[in-house]
Amino acid sequence: MLLKFIFVLSLVLSVIVAYRSSHVSRRHYQQEFHQSSNIQLDGDDVIEIIKRYGYPVEGYTVVTEDGYLLQLFRIGSGIHNSEWDSDQNDSQKDIKNHNSQSDSSLKRPAVLLIPGIESSALDFVIGGPDQSLAFILADNGFDVFLGNVRGSRFGRTHKTLDPDHDPAFWRFCWEDIAVKDLPAIIDTIYSTARPEHLMYVGHMQGSTLFYIMASEKAEYRDRVHVMITLGPIAFLGNTKNLMLKLASEKKDLAGWITRNFGQNEFKPSKEAMEDGGMQDCLRSKDEIMCKHSFFLLNGYNSNQLNMTTVERLMKNMLKYTGTATKELLHYGQLVKSGRFTNMQGEDYNLQRINTPIILIYTTHDMASTVEDVDMLLRHLPGVYRAVKITELTNNLDLLFGNNVGDIVYKRLIAVLRSEWSSLICKSKSNL
Ligand SMILES: *[C@@H]1O[C@H](CO)[C@@H](O)[C@H](O)[C@H]1NC(C)=O
Ligand SMILES: *[C@@H]1O[C@H](CO)[C@@H](O)[C@H](O)[C@H]1NC(C)=O
Repeated sequence: MLLKFIFVLSLVLSVIVAYRSSHVSRRHYQQEFHQSSNIQLDGDDVIEIIKRYGYPVEGYTVVTEDGYLLQLFRIGSGIHNSEWDSDQNDSQKDIKNHNSQSDSSLKRPAVLLIPGIESSALDFVIGGPDQSLAFILADNGFDVFLGNVRGSRFGRTHKTLDPDHDPAFWRFCWEDIAVKDLPAIIDTIYSTARPEHLMYVGHMQGSTLFYIMASEKAEYRDRVHVMITLGPIAFLGNTKNLMLKLASEKKDLAGWITRNFGQNEFKPSKEAMEDGGMQDCLRSKDEIMCKHSFFLLNGYNSNQLNMTTVERLMKNMLKYTGTATKELLHYGQLVKSGRFTNMQGEDYNLQRINTPIILIYTTHDMASTVEDVDMLLRHLPGVYRAVKITELTNNLDLLFGNNVGDIVYKRLIAVLRSEWSSLICKSKSNL
């Protein structure tokens, strides 16, 4: 009995000591990290990266109705006063005041970030506090949630299916992600943070998923109060992406895709990579970029990419592709039809979306062309603003472009701030 007690006691003590020393060493490490110019990021974990920059991070597991386990990360508060505090205006003061008023019935706004195809939450942290959206939002007073969808690096677990051995794991398309993953993620945010307001930022396919959810799931339409699209993808009739165009020209699209990309997880053959333009890419660009299928779908035509950030990202991505072949099939259909439909060819009803939407896009995007963005603008009833970023060329620049903090995120925060103040006004007038 006594032995048992001593054992338990020493266990508890060692846990406490380990916890405290990990705290201490983390802080110590952080200092080293900031001082060192030659940073090696092989800790391939989003949580690890966030911690290394000294931000508080929490992780949740989201379980979807069909058994996928998705990791959701949260940066609950910032650590730097934003460099934009100097041009702080009333709406930002509102956010900060609300956060310090514990008796306030209004909470700080939560923001959910959803990445694009083949991507993960890594996209929003990889550039560090000055260049990555998650940190910039946290430092500006937002409660930041980083979502991951099924098939991605942080969504490769299922209650019963094994992604490496069960083809059934990969039998999903956008619609499943949109109507099952997003609602489960949103529910988790509401049950943990209980935010008064939730804003949503989607990059590329991350935006497509929102449009689908908002048009198909009436009960989730009012759970998101503002939606920001970085690089909108819905209509693809004018896409210049070679791989998507090629897919749309195939008579036996399904057969061609299976032969070149496998049946389950998206794994393009060497030939498919070459046909998709990666040979051109190799002539002009860094090998690390042109060998990864991520650029095959997202486009490689940027001259503005911050290669430090891209190389860090690729180091963390090489092992996984993280999407299902079926998704390419769906893309191919959209390019062919020029419409925004489900896989059965039925149009999504964008008129049902009542969330205020802000579209941020670039001028020479291969995947999401200006013509297709215009088409989307005509279909979405609630677009408040369309912000064309002329300094950048490609949708990936919106995440990894040089000076993206100044060029894009400053504007994005300004928009969120002003939407947030009008939400506060509305809530106040309801009291
Ligand atoms: C490129 O990204 C790195 C972080 O990945 C950052 O330190 C650097 O300032 C960025 N350069 C530009 C020009 O944005
Ligand atoms: C305050 O925010 C708005 C956007 O909501 C922006 O246009 C304006 O420039 C900001 N004010 C100042 C003083 O910077």
